Amino acid sequence: MNILIAKHVGFCFGVERAISLVEEALINNKKVYTYGPIIHNPIVVSNLENRGVKVVYDLNELNSGDVLIIRSHGIAKNLYCHLERKNIKIIDATCPFVKKAYNAAENFSRASYFVVILGDRQHPEVEGIISYIDGEYAVISSTLEAMNLTKKEKIGYLAQTTQDRKLFMSIKDILSLKCNELKVLDTICNATYLRQKDAKEVAEKVELMLIVGGQNSGNTNRLLQICSEICKRSYLIESVKDLKNINFQGINNVGVSAGASTPNYLINELIEYLNGVSYVRDKW
Ligand code: F3S
Repeated sequence: MNILIAKHVGFCFGVERAISLVEEALINNKKVYTYGPIIHNPIVVSNLENRGVKVVYDLNELNSGDVLIIRSHGIAKNLYCHLERKNIKIIDATCPFVKKAYNAAENFSRASYFVVILGDRQHPEVEGIISYIDGEYAVISSTLEAMNLTKKEKIGYLAQTTQDRKLFMSIKDILSLKCNELKVLDTICNATYLRQKDAKEVAEKVELMLIVGGQNSGNTNRLLQICSEICKRSYLIESVKDLKNINFQGINNVGVSAGASTPNYLINELIEYLNGVSYVRDKW
């Protein structure tokens, strides 16, 4: 059995950095807190929990002197003041690419642009972006919503980092008809695009595709969706334990991809397992 692994898989730069900051914090502190799970991977989160990392969803649970790690999505601007007032020690793992989106929103807003954000209104990153806007804005997720916007004098346009660039560009064309002055800042991060492009290329060459990642991870589920459109037998697995219900009989080529929140050790574990399956089959 041939195993094809997508070129870009697993942790992106921002997630890698966030996990390193957690590891560093654990050297000096018995207990550290994260505001929401540090990444969307239950295996990693539960391992960290066993080592003293507690997830909080309400910042009021924290006490003076506690150490809080802000995850790669970042947090709303006003929450920094709140944390400082409570004397919480902040370790900021906000991804620099996310910060770029925050800065873009702030600069557009300061220059009196109507800010248009392509993104998911409920996502913490978008909530963070909005918190830097002191004026009018709209969050949209489709070309139809862009067409429904009323005409403005000046529009500043940006995106949540994980958005699709093709959609971003289509909306840009619509927005140019919706104002007299359009300023665009492409804040989309390539990590998502590269993982999707490479997974697609692999899915085209195999009979069975495995995507490693958390069931609760948006980017992993998107990879599954993209691969399923090409390769009918595409499966999302959290670890090798989930392979027991998958039948490899008659499969000659299997593809592997993983979302940006999947650590290397889970990907390597899978590859080792598949090499074992392949070895046993070849001996038959
Ligand atoms: Fe940052 Fe891009 Fe990852 S924005 S957190 S490197 S997907």
